[in-house]
Formats: sequence, structure tokens, C-alpha cells
Amino acid sequence: MSASILDGIKVAEKVRELVASDVSEWVQKGNRAPKLQVVLVGSNPASHSYVNAKTKACNEVGVESDTLVLPDTISHNELEEVIYSYNADINTDGILVQLPLPTHIPQLAAIEAIDHRKDVDGFHPMNVGRLTIGQPSFKPCPPAGILELLDYYSIPTKGKHAVVIGASNIVGTPMSVLLSRESGGAKSTVTICHKFTRDITRHTIDADILIVAAGSPGLITGPMVKEGVVVIDVGINRVADHNREKGYRLTGDCDFDSVSKKASWITPVPGGVGPMTVAMLMKNTLLAAKKSLYPGK
Ligand code: GUN
Repeated sequence: MSASILDGIKVAEKVRELVASDVSEWVQKGNRAPKLQVVLVGSNPASHSYVNAKTKACNEVGVESDTLVLPDTISHNELEEVIYSYNADINTDGILVQLPLPTHIPQLAAIEAIDHRKDVDGFHPMNVGRLTIGQPSFKPCPPAGILELLDYYSIPTKGKHAVVIGASNIVGTPMSVLLSRESGGAKSTVTICHKFTRDITRHTIDADILIVAAGSPGLITGPMVKEGVVVIDVGINRVADHNREKGYRLTGDCDFDSVSKKASWITPVPGGVGPMTVAMLMKNTLLAAKKSLYPGK
């Protein structure tokens, strides 16, 4: 078997087109354009590149955006004051604090400082909790984008065995919740693997759907998966490559050549989950502007 490509660039474009037309309708009704406020602490090159992709998408769909870049010497209290000011600003709909933060800033405290009604990343415990019990909430963008991609290609999830590699708060954990929920979710049977999992192949070989978000280039190889598996590679790893102008290339957590020979579907890296993640952020920002998830609050 040779896998078909789950084209995140194409599907993300379709999602952005829908958002753009909804934004335009919203504005034509007399509302101001939705606004996303990004807070970027420090000079991590990957973070700067992700934020650029997010603000470029905002531009495309008619969402206003502003990026506040803060030095990595900023204190936890100073950062919280900044976040509180955006919470109070009636012209700011969504707030995104780009992660990771410098190690002296407690990440969860910074996330909890964001008003959950503006938490377009879906990282605030209020949104995480509501997601887990199937209540309306902001859904974290990478897992929401993955479900959108599966849906676009009509890949069935009900009753399938989905194996999620990586248990992070951004991808693995919310992914497993969204996949497993019977009502409003993907109705899959879910296994989560992480760094303490013994004999990971025992699990991956049984996956109908394999979601890999380990941040470990080439972790999953052909012999570890079964014929026909649907593979979603969330890894975006920079590996040194002196033949490239930038000195690195992006690669996923799967060894694409060997895994794609056995898979029925696979996401490329780049061009798979990354663009979907950004497109879902646009969707969430519009939901925040419309106060769709927390009406009347
Ligand atoms: N860092 C890596 N992915 C993300 C994301 O989806 N949101 C934020 N805020 N930071 C990230």
C-alpha cells in the first residue's frame, strides 16, 4: 500500500475561506472585526515563526491582530498584568500567549491569568474541564484541526482504535479526550502512550488511527504500524541540514518513507497538521468575538 496524503494546506485554506466569509458577514452586520492579541515572550525562533504564521492567517481572514513581544527577563507578575489589561479590553476578543514561556514563568499560572472567554488556545482549566465533560468550550487548535482533517477526508473514527503518542496538554491529552468522547466526539477507543510506555510497538501496531505528537524525529517507523493505518504526524522538528539555506529542515515524528508504504493515509510534515492548527485558531477567534461559547457572560 502507498498512502494518500491528508493535505493540511488545502483543507486549512478551505477552513480559512469559510471563516473569512463568516467574518465578513459579522462585520457587515455592524460589528467590529474580531481581534486576536498575541503575547510573545523572548526570542525563540520557532515561536516567532509560528506567531508570524498566525498573524498572517488573521490578515487573510479579516481578523485584526496585534503581537506584543516582551523580553524574556519579564517577571511573572509583569506578564500577568499585561494579560489582565487584555482581559479588560473590550476590543480584544482572543488572547494567545505563545508557549513555551521562559522557565522562570510558571506556565499554568500565565494560562490561568487569561479570561477563559478569551482563551482561544483552549488551554485554560475552565476550557479543558468543559471539553472533558463535553460542554461547549474552546478546543485546542491542533486536535481540533486533526478532527477537521479526518472529517474532510471522510475517515471514519467511530469504534476505531486510535493510539495517541504523547500526553502533552496541547496535543496528546485533549486529542485523546476528543477522540474518545461518545457524544459530540469521535467515538474511538483510545490508547495513550508516553515516555513511560513499555514496548510502544505493541500499541502502535494495533492502531487504526495513529496520532504522533512526541517531538521525536523519526520515532515511528514502518515496522511499528499495521497495513492501512491512518497516520497523523504532529511533530515539527528542526533537524540540521547544511544543504538548506536556513541550515535545517522540518521533519515529523514519523519516518515518512517507511510509514507511508504501509499507511492508507498520512499527513506530510510540513503541510499537514501545522496549517490546520492555524486555521482552527481563526475559527476560535471568531467564536470568541461572537461570544458563541459563553453567551451572556
Ligand atoms: N506553542 C506550540 N503550540 C502552541 C499553540 O498551539 N498555542 C500556543 N499558545 N503556544 C504554542
